[in-house]
Amino acid sequence: MVDRCVCYNRLFSDIQQLMVHSNIKTFEELKKYITFGENCKLCIPYVELMIQTGKTEFEPIQIGGDVG
Ligand code: FES
Repeated sequence: MVDRCVCYNRLFSDIQQLMVHSNIKTFEELKKYITFGENCKLCIPYVELMIQTGKTEFEPIQIGGDVG
């Protein structure tokens, strides 16, 4: 499961808590508060999903092509 921004070691659950505590509603606001998603950027779609769905753990998103 994908549950964090690996590059900055930020758990999505921690990011979500911050959003609740600081009344952050959007991805853009969130980026002003903390640094994440600026290295490989692979976590960005998950953070967007987290904001939309409230979930903090995700199955890896397939980006084109088959795996296995
Ligand atoms: S996992 Fe978030 S920038 Fe790489």
